[in-house]
Amino acid sequence: MTSDGTTKQKRDELLRKREESQQGGGPRRIDAQHKRGKFTARERLGMLLDQDSFEELDPFVLHRSTDFGLEKQKYLGDAVVTGYGTVNGKLVFVYAQDFTVFGGSLSEVVANKICKVMDMAIESGAPVVGLIDSGGARIQEGIDSLGGYGSIFNRNVMASGVVPQISVMLGPAAGGATYSPALTDFIFMVRGLGQMYITGPDVIKAVTAEDVSHEDLGGADAHTRKSGVAHFSEESEEECLEKVRKLLSFLPQNNMENSTTAVNTDNPDRVDEDLNDIIPDNPNEPYDMLNVIHTVVDNNDFLQVHANFAGNILVGFSRMDGNTVGIVAQQPDQFAGVLDIDASVKAARFVRFCDAFNIPIVTFIDVPGFMPGTSQEHAGIIRHGAKLIFAYAEATVPKISVLTRKAYGGAYIVMSSKTLKGDINYSWPTGQIAVMGAEGAVNIIHRSRINDSENPNETRSELVKEYEDNLMNPYAAAGRGLIDDVIEPSQTRRKIIKALRMLANKRESLPPKKHGSIPL
Ligand code: HXC
Repeated sequence: MTSDGTTKQKRDELLRKREESQQGGGPRRIDAQHKRGKFTARERLGMLLDQDSFEELDPFVLHRSTDFGLEKQKYLGDAVVTGYGTVNGKLVFVYAQDFTVFGGSLSEVVANKICKVMDMAIESGAPVVGLIDSGGARIQEGIDSLGGYGSIFNRNVMASGVVPQISVMLGPAAGGATYSPALTDFIFMVRGLGQMYITGPDVIKAVTAEDVSHEDLGGADAHTRKSGVAHFSEESEEECLEKVRKLLSFLPQNNMENSTTAVNTDNPDRVDEDLNDIIPDNPNEPYDMLNVIHTVVDNNDFLQVHANFAGNILVGFSRMDGNTVGIVAQQPDQFAGVLDIDASVKAARFVRFCDAFNIPIVTFIDVPGFMPGTSQEHAGIIRHGAKLIFAYAEATVPKISVLTRKAYGGAYIVMSSKTLKGDINYSWPTGQIAVMGAEGAVNIIHRSRINDSENPNETRSELVKEYEDNLMNPYAAAGRGLIDDVIEPSQTRRKIIKALRMLANKRESLPPKKHGSIPL
């Protein structure tokens, strides 16, 4: 205990510095940030994390640059706020780029701060959430900044499949800076705020003479609807960060944890009679697979991932019996649920995420085949479709499928089939497993009989009926054990839950290898 007040002075100094570190680039720039319609890094962390749970790290870090007069412009903490806190009571590491300091640009020390929390996240086995709002590489720092990106990318790759990584785009991300988010598992974007592009509108104009706005080029719609780079598009920062919290509620903390369990508040034995009538009599009539999913899962709760991209396939998270499951399902309401390039890639990525994080996969199948046409063939549907085969075959988590209607050709094999090591494959009585649809099949195998007949249309109809009666049902597959049982649709929920319980301790390993060579 000192009597001259030194201790008090030191404490006051700490409080003063702490206060200063909370100011980012100062009141004028905070004001400008608000005028842009954006929250500050700290306000955002306040919305993302549980109340009062944030513990900041490195608030006193300063950049070391002396070029371009930077030694006179220093801000405590530099252009990123980092630390840890909780979401829904569970540990999460966070970094939020601070646009009020040099436009959130990445200096060497900003990169070091981000790398520090990423290393801690990997060691502690907890998710990382990055809030992105940055002018990219700190121009004045040159190579030190570029090297910083390399260090972050390296950690993104090391963390992949170990802890969930989420990027939230709340401002610009240009050039190579887009690649850290691109390496993470889920990208959220706020419409009108988040923008991602490799080259901006000015460069595009100079090189190709094309005129495009920042938002049209790399905004939320561009990336959640067209490119598929981003998974979630939200209207406001508040809604976006709330959605991040919801996503995290489904995810395990790391790859050593089993899928997350919540208290089951829905009856596992619920029987849903409505499902018995959901399939239209006409096999070409669409229906909404979302109704099936919502009916079967706990409390109708299905968090769609990539909802605006490749709508012919649905992927997302739900709970069954209180445990997280990954849902993959054709959507007959869009392009008859056909598998095209985008659908294959979307589902393959999701299946691999679930497998990496021990999340069982429940697949609902109604697929007329792969999309025909030169544009799909020449864009590589063979290569991209192979990704989905690879993902399902490689996945060792419990795999349960329910065939609701069509499973034709190669698409039957792809979708979690028994020969790709599906654990439990159910079919509804309306299931049809065949090499192709009845019309197409009859036109090929009975061509001469139809052509030679006195009434070709009548003959074709008879042959189609014969084909449908004999082959368009689940019993040939069930007779070979490729379908484990044909179930009443109303029983689907309890059948899946029983299968999930049976598979809870499933152990399957792959042959020793460094890694496979997925056709990228
Ligand atoms: C240093 C930067 C900066 C940067 C912005 N600032 N970007 N400082 N390095 N990269 C500073 C500005 O000087 C300004 O400082 C403050 O941040 C806010 O910027 P404004 O331009 O006033 O804001 P706004 O009008 O909203 O425009 C935002 C912007 C624009 C679109 C991001 O600043 C911009 O185009 N910046 C450069 C983007 C860029 O080309 N970055 C390099 C990308 S390539 P004051 O003092 O006025 O507040 C890259 C390579 C990565 O990142 C490679 C990885 C492998």
